[in-house]
Amino acid sequence: MSEAKLSVSGVRKVFEGRAGEVVALDGVDFEIAEKEFVTVIGTSGCGKSTMLSIIAGLEEESEGEVLVNGEPVHGPGRDRGVVFQSYTLFPWMTAQKNVEFALHGTKGERADIAREHLELVGLEGFADAYPSQLSGGMRQRIAIARALSYKPEVLLMDEPFGALDAQTRQLMQELLTRIWEEHRLTVMFVTHDIDEAVFLSDRVLVMTARPGRIKEDIRVGVERPRTFEVLSTPEFFEYKSRLLEAVREESLKTATEQLAVR
Ligand SMILES: Nc1ncnc2c1ncn2[C@@H]1O[C@H](COP(=O)(O)OP(=O)(O)O)[C@@H](O)[C@H]1O
Ligand SMILES: [Mg+2]
Repeated sequence: MSEAKLSVSGVRKVFEGRAGEVVALDGVDFEIAEKEFVTVIGTSGCGKSTMLSIIAGLEEESEGEVLVNGEPVHGPGRDRGVVFQSYTLFPWMTAQKNVEFALHGTKGERADIAREHLELVGLEGFADAYPSQLSGGMRQRIAIARALSYKPEVLLMDEPFGALDAQTRQLMQELLTRIWEEHRLTVMFVTHDIDEAVFLSDRVLVMTARPGRIKEDIRVGVERPRTFEVLSTPEFFEYKSRLLEAVREESLKTATEQLAVR
């Protein structure tokens, strides 16, 4: 158990809203081993972002515990890198400066590390460009470069490709897979896209409808290295249909609940 890079146990989260309490999470338990790529999927509103924010230290759990490398999480820290769906770059800084901003060290060291990470995401020619001059996919590549540049223990990604068009999204998935296969990072990735989950992951955790907890934990045995060609293999479809069924069961619960309220 102590080998887990990330350990989440008994996590419950209650939000106090105007309309009363919302129990977003109730009894979330899972572990991510070092160098494992784990994706959390689930129907909209099941608590995926809440879970990720608690791990990032941006929200506090009501009960339970999150450990990174065996240490309890108290607030944000450099042991966790975070990439969100919406662009979190500073518009007044170049790509290079947006990455350097996250780094410690001398000016020269920061410049070198930033350059190296822009190269990692294929943006070596765009160091001096401003976010507004770049496409959505390129901006997310800068966000990934920045999150990786300070070598976090765990990379947390909340629907990072959710705002991109389908083609760009596929290219970004391939880029992330290539980086992961070369560098073997510990990743927790959140999405509601089942193809994306199967393509990227070693394991997929399916969450229940709200209050969220882990409903299924499925190991994805699709061979690596993975390229877009795996998307059309029978094996890929088997995992996909199994996950579709699990997610659909939970979406139906949410839909039934909403209809019953009306
Ligand atoms: N700050 C907040 N205050 C009150 N309720 C919240 C807050 N953040 C999230 N929620 C509620 O918690 C539930 C889970 O939300 P979220 O984690 O964003 O789900 P997901 O990312 O899976 O779509 C939702 O019902 C949402 O409305
Ligand atoms: Mg979300």
